Amino acid sequence: MSQIHFRRHRRLRQTPSIRSMVRETVLQKEDLIYPFFVVEGEGVKNEIPSMPNVFQLSLDLVNEEMNTVEDLGIPAVIVFGVPHDKDDVGTSAYCDHGIVQKAVRQIKENNPNLTVIADTCLCQFTDHGHCGVVEDGKILNDPSLELLAKTAVSQAEAGADIIAPSNMMDGFVAAIRQGLDEAGYTDVPIMSYAVKYASAFYGPFRDAAHSSPKSGDRKTYQMDPANRLEAMREAESDIEEGADFLIVKPALSYMDIIREVKNNFKAPVVAYNVSGEYSMIKAASMNGWIDEKSTVLEKLTSMKRAGADLILTYFAKDVARWLDEDN
Ligand code: PBG
Repeated sequence: MSQIHFRRHRRLRQTPSIRSMVRETVLQKEDLIYPFFVVEGEGVKNEIPSMPNVFQLSLDLVNEEMNTVEDLGIPAVIVFGVPHDKDDVGTSAYCDHGIVQKAVRQIKENNPNLTVIADTCLCQFTDHGHCGVVEDGKILNDPSLELLAKTAVSQAEAGADIIAPSNMMDGFVAAIRQGLDEAGYTDVPIMSYAVKYASAFYGPFRDAAHSSPKSGDRKTYQMDPANRLEAMREAESDIEEGADFLIVKPALSYMDIIREVKNNFKAPVVAYNVSGEYSMIKAASMNGWIDEKSTVLEKLTSMKRAGADLILTYFAKDVARWLDEDN
């Protein structure tokens, strides 16, 4: 028989030790950002029905949660506020005693080493549920910018380490950068939701944050899932306007976009593993259809391989525990 020539790729997969020596992507605790929901009231710990093991917490229960997060070695959290009062201009988003401002102040006092990121948006705080000012059914761009900048400044005043604007108005990064700079917060970075699609995967979050639009949808400001070049235009604008980090959201259906943003821009890229992505894995694993730990670790490692430097995930605490287990 004539000699067949082929390469033996399996040589590098022989043992756990060799496999770990040639592993190209490593998931670490330092990559994780833990999102959580804070509500008014006392002793409130509401599990989100569509997100098992994710809770809305009142302020008196937040310290315990943050201690757990810090002890697990997760470096950062992102705060989502669920306010009591809503109005048409989202006043509770930028008032000094807003739920986010109170939470940020408390966390920085109790866990000064935890990096606190404030989600800067209006939809949880407006009675119509849109992320900006609405007039005659239209979401107005420029009047929304002023409110966003006010919100960002009040969050920085409360002690937020990073501002994460998520409302997808044009010019939001520029407006917030200017607002922060004028208020003396030149050192507070902006983690922009640069590429945010109008996604069906946000469904469970809207249950958790009570932020569904009362009418219409978000398709005039969030992006069409069919578009790739538009993502590059969005990211480019945010970089020009002063964004320090670029978020791509959601993550799993948008791995190509994560890679392309990574290749085209020099800023750190953040993948947002959103609520619906959490719920899908949770539901399947609770049914015994897939193994939760290995599925989640595979998914998050894939996000890093796609180019994410950081991952925002509701699984952050579980992942930190699993990484400890495996070391
Ligand atoms: C608010 C906001 C949303 C999410 C984060 N910030 C929802 C939305 O745009 O409707 C979704 C997060 C998730 O699904 O985990 N603008």
